[in-house]
Formats: sequence, C-alpha cells, structure tokens
Amino acid sequence: MEDKAEPKFAELREDYINPPMRKSDVNPDPFQQFKKWFTEARDSGIREPNAMTLSTLGLDQVPSSRTVLLKDLDQRGFSFFTNYNSRKASEIEAHPVASLLFLWKEQSRQVVVRGRVEKTSRAESQIYFQARPYDSRIGAWASDQSAVIPGRDWLIEKDREYRQQFPDKGTPDCVPVPDFWGGYRLLPASFEFWQGGKGRLHDRLIYKGGAENGWAIERWSP
Ligand SMILES: Cc1cc2nc3c(=O)[nH]c(=O)nc-3n(C[C@H](O)[C@H](O)[C@H](O)COP(=O)(O)O)c2cc1C
Repeated sequence: MEDKAEPKFAELREDYINPPMRKSDVNPDPFQQFKKWFTEARDSGIREPNAMTLSTLGLDQVPSSRTVLLKDLDQRGFSFFTNYNSRKASEIEAHPVASLLFLWKEQSRQVVVRGRVEKTSRAESQIYFQARPYDSRIGAWASDQSAVIPGRDWLIEKDREYRQQFPDKGTPDCVPVPDFWGGYRLLPASFEFWQGGKGRLHDRLIYKGGAENGWAIERWSP
C-alpha cells in the first residue's frame, strides 16, 4: 500500500511573485543593498533572519557547511562567533576563505557572500561574549565544539562544573572569555542577490570588485 506520509519531493513546488529586479532598482553599494533586504526579512517577522549557512573548505577538500548567526556587520564585513577549536575553525585556519548564504524563503530571496576570513579582535570577541546570557557564556566553556564526547550526561556534568567555577553574579564579567572562543569576519569579495521571479525567470545580480576599486554589477542567467 502507498504510504501517504512518505514525502513526494517532486510534487513540492512554489510560485514566486516578486516584481522584476533591475540594476537600477538596487543600491550600488552591496552592503546597503544587503541591509535593505535584511531589514525587509526581519520586519516580515520571520525567525532568525540572521541565520546563515557558512561553507568552508574541508581539510579533506570536501566543502563543509553549517548554520551560524550573523552578529555584526560593518564596512569591513560579516562577523559570527564560535569555538576556535571547532571543525570550522580548523578549516578556516587552513584555508581562510568562506561563503555565507542567507535564505529568506518568505521573500523568495537568497544572498551569497564570498570572501576571505579573518579573526575578529580579542576586544570585539570580549564585548560580544559579555553581552551573551549567562547560560550561553557557560555553554561556551562546557562545549568542546566538534570533539567526540562520551554522551549527553557528560556534557551536562561539564556544564554543572563550570556553573560552580563561575557562579552567576549577574555581571558581564562573572564568566571569563575562554581563550578558545571568539569571532571571525568574512570580508566580501563578491555578493550575489537572487530573487525568485514569475515563471522561473529569477533575477541574479552579482557585485564584484570592492569598496576601493568600486563595485561592478553583473546580471547572471537564472
Ligand atoms: C540556527 C542555528 C544557529 C547557530 N549559530 C551558531 C553560531 O553562531 N556559532 C556556532 O559556533 N555555531 C552555531 N550553530 C551550530 C553550528 O551549526 C554547528 O553545529 C557548530 O558550530 C559546529 O560546527 P563545526 O563542527 O562545523 O565547527 C548554529 C546552529 C543553528 C541551527
């Protein structure tokens, strides 16, 4: 008998209804264009519009992807925070390049940013760490991110130990910033803004160049 619960992937289909996007509609500065789209996604009420897929080059040369949260954006680039001993960190240290992909399904929009990656300064990491809730700060100590661990109980025990070591005094510095924790910043070399259009005639505008030489915009076929 046919299993009704079995997903029929080929039948899943959405129509996109965005009006056409022309070069004259977008901001010549891709950072400003990103902020415009980000604000529209955020204001539409979707959860975690700052979630982005970070892809790095695996040590085995196979791409490696995971979601991280955008925590800062300035004229230099896009910052996120993580464990400097994690798999992603080893990959970035070996090949300091990455891509970031934002998917805003509700707007039928995707942005891909590619470029070099550098560490944020210790001061920047510290400022963000101290702004995190107590549980997250303890979690950063308890998680030896990407390491194989014996089980969940082991993790809970480590969390408990660090809560004892660094009790919650309600102050930003009651939990020190671990040496192995901090941020990375992706410095964009290119941006792609994709918007789903009617009849699969999607728009793709690619910015290349950089702030110093000026950004050039190309249209790519969907
Ligand atoms: C919505 C969401 C947000 C996340 N944000 C972060 C983040 O900001 N930093 C982080 O290190 N991991 C974050 N994670 C966990 C990562 O996806 C990943 O599992 C973890 O960083 C280990 O990745 P790695 O082994 O490739 O280094 C997030 C996961 C999800 C689903």
